[in-house]
Parts: sequence; C-alpha cells; structure tokens
Amino acid sequence: MRQLLPPSDLDPDLVALYAEPALARVRGGFVLGVDGGVAVDGNSRALSGPADRAVFRTLRAVCDVILVGAGTARVEDYGTIRLTAEGAAWRKAEGLPPLPRVAVVSRSLDLDERLFAHARPLVLTCEDADLSRIEDRADVIVAGTDTVDIGLALDLLAGEGLGRVLCEGGPRLLASVVAADRLDELCLTTTPLLVGRAPDLLPLDLGRPLGLRLRHLLEDQGTLVTRYDVVRRPRHADSEGEVSSSGG
Ligand SMILES: NC(=O)c1ccc[n+]([C@@H]2O[C@H](COP(=O)([O-])OP(=O)(O)OC[C@H]3O[C@@H](n4cnc5c(N)ncnc54)[C@H](OP(=O)(O)O)[C@@H]3O)[C@@H](O)[C@H]2O)c1
Repeated sequence: MRQLLPPSDLDPDLVALYAEPALARVRGGFVLGVDGGVAVDGNSRALSGPADRAVFRTLRAVCDVILVGAGTARVEDYGTIRLTAEGAAWRKAEGLPPLPRVAVVSRSLDLDERLFAHARPLVLTCEDADLSRIEDRADVIVAGTDTVDIGLALDLLAGEGLGRVLCEGGPRLLASVVAADRLDELCLTTTPLLVGRAPDLLPLDLGRPLGLRLRHLLEDQGTLVTRYDVVRRPRHADSEGEVSSSGG
C-alpha cells in the first residue's frame, strides 16, 4: 500500500493513520464498488481485498465498539472479530480489552446465532422490543420507544466508556446515524469493480448534501482507501446556507 495524500514515500502506518484519543467519535467504515454498490450477492465479501481487510481490521482495533445493524449481522459473521497484529499491540499498550465490543442495533431482536458464539454482545434496542427473544445472552441498552434513538444510544455507549464507535453499517443503520447528525467521519475503500444493482451506501433523503473533507488517500493495486471528516453544517444557517448574522 502507498500513501498518495498527504504525499509520503513511507509505507503507511495504519494504526497511526486511524488511532484517535478516547473521545466520543463516530466513524463509518465501508467498502464500495466504483458505482457505489455495497454488496454482491447480499454481502460485502467480494468487494474486500487485502488492502481493505488490513484497513478494516485496523479500524476495528482502534475503536471501543463496533456498531452494526441487525441486517448486516444476519448476513455477516459478527461472532468472530479479527484485528491486525499491530492493532492488537496498540490495544495492549493503551490498556484496552483485547477486542472491541460488538453492539447490534435491532428492534426485531431476530439475531444470528453466530453473534453469541464467542463473546457477549451489546444489543441496542427500543421499548417495544420483545426482550425475551435474547433472554440473558446479551447486555441490553434500551433507547427509544418504537425505534432505536441512535443519538441517545450513542450517548449511553459513551457513558459506558465506549465513545470511539466504528459504524460498519449497513446502509440503513448508517442512514439512522446520519439522520441523527452523529456521523463524524467516513472511511471508505473503493474497490475497482462495477457492482451493478446493489444497495446504495446512504438510503436517506438528505435535503442538502453533507460536506466531507479528505484526510488521506492510500492506494493498493487500484484499490483506493480514503478517510474523510464530516464537515458540520453551521447550526444557525439561513436558507442560502450562510451563517446568520443574528445567530449566536
Ligand atoms: N460494503 C460494506 O461495507 C457493507 C457494510 C455493511 C453492510 N453491507 C451490506 O448491506 C446489506 C445490509 O444492509 P441494510 O441496510 O439492509 O441493513 P442494516 O443497516 O445492517 O440493518 C438494518 C436493521 O438494523 C436495525 N436498525 C437499524 N437502524 C435502526 C433503528 N434506528 N432502530 C431500530 N432498528 C434499527 C433493524 O433491525 P431489525 O430488523 O432486527 O429490527 C433494521 O432492519 C447487506 O447486504 C450487507 O452485506 C455492506
């Protein structure tokens, strides 16, 4: 892998490029085809090559909690979490548990058995959910009435010391996070494939586009690895998008 932006002749140090202080921050991590599709035959395996796997496992290593929608956790194995050796060493040096927690967002609580295979997951759900479906097999956080209030759920996670959140999607969960205005950054791997008909990254009517600022660009055999910050909209903006002169 080589670092194109900011320009560097050194091999990228992925942990240094992605590790952040333990502040509450929500990072999205996704792999896409060039046409934006996020799945082939219902899952993302065909999109992910060696460069993406290295970044994916690094992103997992440097977070406190992996946030995933039940839809994705029904088609991909969230019971086994692998990290890079460098990422695992970083966690040890930071005094963190060997693995991040996994938090699944679900109202139905129709969860894949693999989720419970090795560790006790967190389940973020709402008051209307039938908790008897997961009995005593998970640590449950209830946020919201008939749907999960993502902003509240993220605040409750931060209160448990799980502030560095890696949202691995899928698209519907990402839409909930963006709709709650809680996405701080987006780490995207673009694989040189046209996927064709597939779910889009963000199934949400945003009204106005959300700005992103590129932090870095890596490349490996045609695969592009990017990290973007979300540019927050001014809180007091008029209809032209300018900061209001009367705003505080
Ligand atoms: N390329 C990539 O990087 C990538 C990453 C992730 C996923 N994917 C792909 O994306 C597809 C799945 O994505 P998806 O958008 O259909 O599903 P998803 O976002 O993973 O999961 C949707 C489910 O999450 C729960 N959920 C999400 N937000 C909620 C809220 N605010 N309140 C209550 N429940 C909420 C609901 O679960 P219940 O139905 O249990 O109530 C909902 O049905 C798969 O094909 C997967 O392989 C690709």
